[in-house]
Amino acid sequence: MAVHSKEEVLQSLDDQVFGASFLPHPLPKYRLPTQETDPAAAYQLVHDELLLDGNSRQNLATFCQTWVEPEVRKLMDECIDKNLIDKDEYPQMAEIEARCVHMLADLWNCPDAANTQGCSTTGSSEAAMLSGLAMRERWRKKQRQAGKPAAEPNLVCGPVHACWPRFARYFDVELREIPCQGNRLLMSPDEVLKRCDENTIGVVPTLGVTYTLQYEPVREVAMALDDLEEESGLNIPLHVDAASGGFIAPFIHPSLPWDFRIARVKSINASGHKFGLAPLGCGWAIWRSAGDLPEDLVFSVKYLGGNMRTYALNFSRPGGAIVAQYYNFVRLGREGYTKITRDCASVGMWVADQVKKLGIFELIYDGRGGIPGCMWTMRRGQNPGFTLYDLADRLRVKGWQVPAYPMPPNREDLVVQRVLTRFGLTRDLAGLLIQDMQNAVKHLTRNPPSKSLTRQSAGGYLHS
Ligand SMILES: Cc1ncc(COP(=O)(O)O)c(C=O)c1O
Repeated sequence: MAVHSKEEVLQSLDDQVFGASFLPHPLPKYRLPTQETDPAAAYQLVHDELLLDGNSRQNLATFCQTWVEPEVRKLMDECIDKNLIDKDEYPQMAEIEARCVHMLADLWNCPDAANTQGCSTTGSSEAAMLSGLAMRERWRKKQRQAGKPAAEPNLVCGPVHACWPRFARYFDVELREIPCQGNRLLMSPDEVLKRCDENTIGVVPTLGVTYTLQYEPVREVAMALDDLEEESGLNIPLHVDAASGGFIAPFIHPSLPWDFRIARVKSINASGHKFGLAPLGCGWAIWRSAGDLPEDLVFSVKYLGGNMRTYALNFSRPGGAIVAQYYNFVRLGREGYTKITRDCASVGMWVADQVKKLGIFELIYDGRGGIPGCMWTMRRGQNPGFTLYDLADRLRVKGWQVPAYPMPPNREDLVVQRVLTRFGLTRDLAGLLIQDMQNAVKHLTRNPPSKSLTRQSAGGYLHS
């Protein structure tokens, strides 16, 4: 999306050109150039522009993987010309994708991992759309069979990632999002039940809430829905948004039941490109059984002389990230993922402890029992003369991107700051971060800004 005003762009079309000593001629920025440019010069030009982007390794806002092994780069390069949808032309890539589906189904304790359905996606957002559509279709069919109206579906969730409101708007589903209340920043079984009725297509707990990194109580919500079914006959399925947690809980919280061990969980999504350690462009949606993915949504594509079932929002798509995901599975196995995830979590707990020692913050998530990382707010009654937005701004001077943001509806008053300790943020780098935080706090205490930054003036960023 363009970040310039229309006037700026129009002005640019006439005025703005690239000019550099290695270029044989000035190049327009907003018009297709008339002349060709030497590849080395064109490369240098684009490469130099990208220098202005933040350094992704220091971007502690993102859940996405920013460090990969050299072998992953090689495989990505080898797959650059392979289209994942061309199952007939690239059957081995299709086979690799299918193996990943079954490995994940098994990892998430699917009762029939060898025969269930699942698909790769570009990330959890696409996986959420596909899982949401499957829920809506299953519900519609059930309503029609019972001779009941099927025009007003709703979906119940806690404070979800933006992909769910998007799903709801694009696919005409009412989103019943449970707002935060006081210290309750996640969904609770009681709040879920208050919002369920016979038009509820499903409930979506998040395993690793984007705002707080904490797990929502999947098992407790499932038990409440079991009781509801017993009392009223309403049978409401669960879909778990395990964008990050799907690649964390199996390795460091193995006794936590959140997955297909719970009979009510009919589907799960996760981002391969987050704690799955694949490069960007890899997500997964897996169903409990083949029957949980409505047949009407599945298309058949010719594959090795047979037919391959596909379920996707895209058609053409690069396959490299999926191949790299498979590489990671083969390369790391359960042992490697466990080691890496445990390390990430221990760095998160260490950062949390150091942040607490700074004395002016209150931890909201201390890195224990959820996604590797931590989250804090300014200690109640504390007025150090600067805001978390000022601190985030000051840390940018050292290249660190540590977002400050308000919590979602009902607790917008609570401004927090969050760090994700992904693979690649070593204990050594985390030590440097803490040093820079100490210095930033000292600097801001000695030189309090005359006008503190706010969400608006800081140009806040939160995400993904
Ligand atoms: C809980 C949750 N769901 C979905 C998403 C979207 O994932 P993706 O960026 O892979 O589309 C995110 C991203 O951070 C997330 O945290």
